[in-house]
Amino acid sequence: MYKELTTSDAERKMLSDAGYGDPAINYYLEKKHMGCFEDADQVFKKIGSCGDIMKVYLKVDDNIINDVRYEITGCAGAIAAAMAAVDLVKNKTIDQALKINDGDVFKVLESIPEKKHHCIQLAVKTMHEGIQEYKNSTLM
Ligand code: FES
Repeated sequence: MYKELTTSDAERKMLSDAGYGDPAINYYLEKKHMGCFEDADQVFKKIGSCGDIMKVYLKVDDNIINDVRYEITGCAGAIAAAMAAVDLVKNKTIDQALKINDGDVFKVLESIPEKKHHCIQLAVKTMHEGIQEYKNSTLM
């Protein structure tokens, strides 16, 4: 008799064995901030040194980051980090959002493999550069 795991249980186990913490795994599997806004206030795309691509869509109102979506062609670490970064900046002012850093995202994820730390950097840089571009455009 076979004992079969569901796809998501199998994926969960694989990620856990690889060193991803439960919050990181949940962010990756749920992908709750993946997508795009047709009427985004700012869109920004960045390509990591690994070749992975992130595109961030910002909804900003009265200096507050109302919501964010990411489109990502990239690894589990990139997706988990980007999803956590959205939860960190949502409902924050632009200047508060610009202060979140890789360490903040790492804390939320609890653990990801060391080789994946640059994925957090890509998620945070994409977010910051998108917000900065929005900020610059409103100063003109
Ligand atoms: Fe490219 Fe993770 S390997 S962002």
